[in-house]
Amino acid sequence: MNSLKNFVLILGTCFVVPTYCMVARPYAAERNRQTVRYVMEEPGSGKPFDDGALKGLSYPSAFAGDRKRGELIYAREGCVQCHTQLIRPDYAGIDQFKKGWGQDQEGKAVVATRQTIMWDYLHEDFAMLGQRRVGPDLANAGYRFKDKLNDFYLYLYAPRARKAWSTSPGYRHLFITRPKEGKGSDNALILPLNLAPEDGLEVVPSSEARALADYILGLKRDQPLPVSITGAKPESK
Ligand code: HEC
Repeated sequence: MNSLKNFVLILGTCFVVPTYCMVARPYAAERNRQTVRYVMEEPGSGKPFDDGALKGLSYPSAFAGDRKRGELIYAREGCVQCHTQLIRPDYAGIDQFKKGWGQDQEGKAVVATRQTIMWDYLHEDFAMLGQRRVGPDLANAGYRFKDKLNDFYLYLYAPRARKAWSTSPGYRHLFITRPKEGKGSDNALILPLNLAPEDGLEVVPSSEARALADYILGLKRDQPLPVSITGAKPESK
């Protein structure tokens, strides 16, 4: 009987201690994280954050547009199966000096980004860290698609129209083919000839595709880190 009691006690401890250390304690410590206003960093910390461009801004900055809905569509469509949003620290991989995934590496410039940290996901209900990297990491996809909305829609509509070797599935159900009215919609996709709809028709993104675009174009996780997070020592004046 005694040994059964010990057994249950030890087994219980084996569950309770790790659950406390790995789930309960981090949750209690992280749940109340707040955005940090850059301006609050200035007293005593001097440089890099008294940069005029950051005045009045907070880290991380809030979501704009229909991003919340886009985030749910991102989850629903299973994008996390192939895309991460996580840049590893430099001792754990080459993510910070990467050219990107895929075969067209040649002409690409090396883009230096910083590692993502917990705060970067503050406004998200679920951090879409991703499961595998079949496609490129999207932590900073917003920069790559800036002013290239049609490129993003083209990727969703027919990935191989953009890159012949793409192994990504298409998401045509997020688009509507409809009769053109007058000159046609400003949102209509600019498609290559072989995919163009018949005369008199146009392909437009549904409101779901537009929300997804808001979400992807808003992915920018390289805001400078406030000193209170990095723990950098204030510069002496
Ligand atoms: C089966 C795997 C797979 C799934 C699922 C998938 N992708 Fe991709 N994705 C890829 C691959 C491979 C590439 C690189 C080739 C290309 O650009 O077509 C890519 C490229 C991209 C790019 C371009 C990235 C860049 O930096 O050029 C974006 C943006 C993107 N995917 C978004 C999405 C979204 C949004 C979803 C969900 C609706 C999704 N992907 C689902 C495999 C996938």
